[in-house]
Amino acid sequence: MCGIVGYIGKNEAKNVLIDGLAKLEYRGYDSAGISVLNNKITTVKAKGQLANLVKKSKDFNLEGNIGIGHTRWATHGEPSDLNSHPHLTENKKISVVHNGIIENYEELREELKNKGKKFVSQTDTEVVPHLIETFYEGNLLDAVIKATKRIEGSYALGVICEDEPDTVVAVRKDSPLIVGLGDGENFIASDIPAILKHTKDVYLLNDKEFVVLEKDKVTLFDENKNEIKKDVYKVTFDDTAAQKGGFDHFMLKEIYEQPKAIKDTLAGRVIPKERIVLDNIDKDAFQNIERIFIVACGTAYHAGLIGKNAIERLSGVPVDVDIASEFRYRNPILTKNTLVMVISQSGETADTLAALRLSKERGCKTFAITNVVGSSVSREADYVLYTHAGPEIAVASTKAYITQLVALYTFALYLAQDRNYIEREKIESIKEELLTLSDKVEKSLENSKISKEIAQKIHKETDIFYLGRGMDYAVAMEGSLKLKEISYIHSEPYAGGELKHGPIALIENGTVVICLNTNKELRGKMDSNIKEVVTRGAYIVGVIPESYTDNLETYNTIIRIPDTDPILSPVASVVPLQLIAYYVAIEKDCNVDKPRNLAKSVTVE
Ligand code: M6R
Repeated sequence: MCGIVGYIGKNEAKNVLIDGLAKLEYRGYDSAGISVLNNKITTVKAKGQLANLVKKSKDFNLEGNIGIGHTRWATHGEPSDLNSHPHLTENKKISVVHNGIIENYEELREELKNKGKKFVSQTDTEVVPHLIETFYEGNLLDAVIKATKRIEGSYALGVICEDEPDTVVAVRKDSPLIVGLGDGENFIASDIPAILKHTKDVYLLNDKEFVVLEKDKVTLFDENKNEIKKDVYKVTFDDTAAQKGGFDHFMLKEIYEQPKAIKDTLAGRVIPKERIVLDNIDKDAFQNIERIFIVACGTAYHAGLIGKNAIERLSGVPVDVDIASEFRYRNPILTKNTLVMVISQSGETADTLAALRLSKERGCKTFAITNVVGSSVSREADYVLYTHAGPEIAVASTKAYITQLVALYTFALYLAQDRNYIEREKIESIKEELLTLSDKVEKSLENSKISKEIAQKIHKETDIFYLGRGMDYAVAMEGSLKLKEISYIHSEPYAGGELKHGPIALIENGTVVICLNTNKELRGKMDSNIKEVVTRGAYIVGVIPESYTDNLETYNTIIRIPDTDPILSPVASVVPLQLIAYYVAIEKDCNVDKPRNLAKSVTVE
């Protein structure tokens, strides 16, 4: 969703801001804008791609070493030049960028209008500069602190003021914001890639921490204006991790990074014949856990479905999986012996975060699987297991999903080792198998040509079905989501046995059905389900293990995946589905990395 960059230093702010905003494009946006301060504040805003802003900027004098920039994903008010950020006071002396939602903006707007403030946009954000102005008595930090006391909702704010030409003030609450520490220059940004070109030293801000950014100094305050000290976090990846590295798209690059991401996520945690160790988690942390809820959205939810299967089968602990936006409103039964596990690539998804907070309020232990160090869920959960996928830029999640699976298997085995639910030898054999997954994904990737050929055949379809049983069904859901989100083809995943209860009515001559059939125990039943659609004229694409030799004539096209323990098969079987979605989107000339209407990190409920 929205992206913020702020800069003060020795370089032209405009260039730093535009470059930083380009690095945040992956978050999804529909307009962009910048304000640069040089005696006066000059602001340029443009609807659409960043290129429009760059073009428009040429008509303005934007020289100056201090500024704020923003990419907007519209919530309140349509995408337009006027609704784009930054938003300013009428006299243009205070300029603000905002990520989040001001929930009480209507009330504040009325109040401010009654005080004579003029509004020009339809946004919730516009109340913020006016509010800051009403509190401004010569100190921008004081005014921002006072203004935030009146604001309900979520916000990351970057503020500049004509009367304080050496300062950027920033604050966050329930929206991401980091501070980059440079040499004679300092930064704020919604995410690390925006500033990585300049520095790897950052402060990861907590809620209601205020920042005063100066050229040579960064000072942090709490809401009572007490100065606070913070450790510098050293970013472990570099600028190249957030670049395409020779691939046409981030998504393809990220698909090919999966073998490494798997290895990195297992490193130091799963070692043959040794106990699994989870970073900073006490051996007895989950001893009393009787039930687990996995709560997540989208792809992370699909990973949770696989996690449920793995945890129940390996440790015997019952698991429920919930869509985060549903979880809070169904009054879940949570006790002190319940573990609520949230899964989130970004660690900032609003619904997931709200579910985590509810669980904490109800006294449960909480556990987060996330890819972003210092993200909200990582800071708020009792325990954290990081996936080491590296920055995921494409909106369609691939390497984050696969590492979520690996983290869930690791967690399931971790629980299993103290529960005596399955034999020790079985735990050991799955551990060993887990360590081969990186190579198996590598092998699946070598087959990419077949996925490309299938994409060339099916890209003109308007409806595509995905079919599977057990874990294959959960993978079918993920494959279907990938196709929908980047190729805009309508697609439905179904459990093999469910088709004849209604959806089989949709199958006609030539309907494409992508069938996952990877589990020996379910194969007989799945073969029958496939025959049911073949009889009705479906075109069958099969995703099957190398060793499977029966009923091959049922499939029109076959994609082979390496054999593995059925519990772990999703890791290899999802790869051809990711590639099919990618190549279909390419055939259709879609914007693969930034699909329409979608944002990478969904920070509104
Ligand atoms: O950052 P999160 O993992 O919490 O994001 C959850 C979903 O928004 C995300 O997985 C979404 O479904 C992806 N676009 C799927 O590719």
